[in-house]
Amino acid sequence: MEKSRGIGYGKTILFGEHFVVYGLPAIASAISDCTVAEVEAGEPGTGITLIDNRPQVDGYKETKKDEIALEMEALQKHFRLDAAKTPLKITLSGNLECASGVGASAALASSIARAVGAHFNLDLTDEQINEAAYAAETAGSGTPSGIDNTCSTYGGMLVFEKNMQGGKNKIELLGVKRPLDIVLASTGITQETKKVVADVKMEKEKNPEKFRKVFEEYRQVFDDALPALREGDAAKVGKLMDRNQELLRKITVSCDEVEKVISVAKKNGALGAKLTGTGRGGLVICLAENKAGQGKVAAALEKAGYGARKTLLGGK
Ligand code: MEV
Repeated sequence: MEKSRGIGYGKTILFGEHFVVYGLPAIASAISDCTVAEVEAGEPGTGITLIDNRPQVDGYKETKKDEIALEMEALQKHFRLDAAKTPLKITLSGNLECASGVGASAALASSIARAVGAHFNLDLTDEQINEAAYAAETAGSGTPSGIDNTCSTYGGMLVFEKNMQGGKNKIELLGVKRPLDIVLASTGITQETKKVVADVKMEKEKNPEKFRKVFEEYRQVFDDALPALREGDAAKVGKLMDRNQELLRKITVSCDEVEKVISVAKKNGALGAKLTGTGRGGLVICLAENKAGQGKVAAALEKAGYGARKTLLGGK
């Protein structure tokens, strides 16, 4: 039976998670690991069957099962799929290990959107795939900014700014002089993005003045980070990542385990380290000075019992 394939990249946020939900600009990068979706005709009467063979950190799929079901429902609605008339078998695989912070739900959505488009010969543009993935992310995670699905669909390093009036979001591909040697460390804790984003919203409503100041400070971090990245000033990028992390602590999205990972990374020469994505667990992004530094940080993290994955951001 003929199978149609689609891929969706994982992502990591260098600057601006959570702030991006409120219209502040963020910088994120796709990583080369991706989710692969295969769509084929299903047996009559079976509706839409999802076979999820993606690798995961322990417990991820169980914690995310409601979110995944909502995403699937939204994709079915978006593409007006009549499961009774055209049963589908959707199989997920790929080398993106599902964990909080890596954009796994967005990769699921954009890979399936791409594969469904191919299956029905819809000739979808990236923009249309991104729209479908955003609809799925909205159903799954409440009020997403759209940064995850954008990275997952387009790939590359980019500046993303949500249009708070509901129009087109700003997406600008970012060229960097020197790619970044990164270690993505896993705390092993899975969080629900929806819940953490809702908690931050509550916190913001309780403390508007505190958030106004934090947003102002973040804006400065972003303004300094953009030229530092473009010029390949890794030491400066690292310092700014640390400052971004301080602000994330203030808005209550860090946690002990994230802080432990950061401390191991910094003691072993990381130029900067911060949580990436949802927070309160998930992944920590650590910037190393060079390849040797990257090896040292990764080895120290592994020795301390954390998963550590080396990756290069902004490379060709
Ligand atoms: C999640 O990867 C990033 C958040 O900023 C939520 C979002 O942007 O939708 C926490």
